[in-house]
Amino acid sequence: MAGLDRLATGIISATAEAQAGDAMAKSLDLYAEQKLAALDARALRRRLSDTAREGVWIVRGDRRLLSFSCNDYLGLSVHPRLKAAAKDAIDRYGVGAGASRLVTGNHPLYAVLERRLANLKHTDEACVFGSGYLANTGIVPSLVGRRDAIFADALCHACLWAGTQLSGASLHVFHHNDVGHLEELLEQHRSSCDRALILTDGVFSMDGDLAPLPALAQLAGKYDAWLMSDDAHGLGVLGDGAGSAAAMGTAPDLQMGTLSKALGSYGGYLCASRPVVELLRTRARTLIYSTGLPPAQIAAALAALDIIQEEPERVAAPHAKALIFTRMLGLPPAQSPIVPLVLGTEEAAIAGSAILEDAGFAVVAIRPPTVPSGTARLRIAFSALHNDDDVLRLADTVRLKVLRGAMPMTMEETSRLSA
Ligand SMILES: Cc1ncc(COP(=O)(O)O)c(C=O)c1O
Repeated sequence: MAGLDRLATGIISATAEAQAGDAMAKSLDLYAEQKLAALDARALRRRLSDTAREGVWIVRGDRRLLSFSCNDYLGLSVHPRLKAAAKDAIDRYGVGAGASRLVTGNHPLYAVLERRLANLKHTDEACVFGSGYLANTGIVPSLVGRRDAIFADALCHACLWAGTQLSGASLHVFHHNDVGHLEELLEQHRSSCDRALILTDGVFSMDGDLAPLPALAQLAGKYDAWLMSDDAHGLGVLGDGAGSAAAMGTAPDLQMGTLSKALGSYGGYLCASRPVVELLRTRARTLIYSTGLPPAQIAAALAALDIIQEEPERVAAPHAKALIFTRMLGLPPAQSPIVPLVLGTEEAAIAGSAILEDAGFAVVAIRPPTVPSGTARLRIAFSALHNDDDVLRLADTVRLKVLRGAMPMTMEETSRLSA
């Protein structure tokens, strides 16, 4: 073939490739657009809003709203002592860890934080991960695999489901907080798997209720299963700051949580026995293959633990405020700083959120798939930074403008829909 012909053939095939690439890009765009349109049609599309936080206030566009949608239960993310600790760590150590913990990212502050967490939870050891999500997706597949089974509460957090999927273990879901149902499932399936892991939240993130940890621990013992609780929303606010298990006088084998909610920082952790923590340090892929935390976040978490130890009244405040709110509305007493108002449809939840926004409150609507279909809700989270007047004003607005004489769905009704 003459050189010119070869050149022409090359150009033609490059053009054909580019066209095929274009067509593929178009099919990708088309796919995304169709998915978005379907989500829009069902009021399920999520959108990011620029949100600047000033403690318990948020600024969105030209509006300043009093937020009941932050997990900064103790207001520590804006506390001067955490800021000072983080700034000092930045000045000394820089802003990034530079590598994963197993390479050169294991700053000495990790050991200090892990010891403090282990002491708080009365375990041998603790292991800090990059986030709560990374903790759960690392812990679960490190402990169970294809020949094993997971028994999970229906309302477990999304990252426990993600860890479950990664593990390849068979999954048995028990009705929310239904110990009888869990026992039935253990009775049926325990003998056909090697190891069994029971998964639950300590405080359920979208419902605010507590898992029956002592009863779950008892079943775990009876059926030779391990119990893991995710106490992301219990640490710092229940059990004098030690979390939901401490509040109930029990200690699951695996106590996971996050540094990003009441502690106001970032990162996740597992508190457990020495061999379990050692195993995770060498096996958990989300620890091994992910960069260590910035030292500033570790320093801030340590400052938060100091404050939790020194200020019991701050620790007690978020739950106390939630109790004032539930009492004012005649709802079942809050079990934690989280109170759900389950309104049912996505549209009802969005409308409720808009009404509250008009009144100056930020209470974000939570919709499926974060919560089961038919249980869209307003999730109200109380903080030590709210004053009692804020709580009373919110309760009045909810009663007069959102509920207007109706009652939100009860936990029983909600659980039936998630069963
Ligand atoms: C129950 C629960 N577990 C785990 C996580 C994940 O924690 P993190 O935000 O640290 O990734 C969250 C946070 O949304 C949560 O609510």
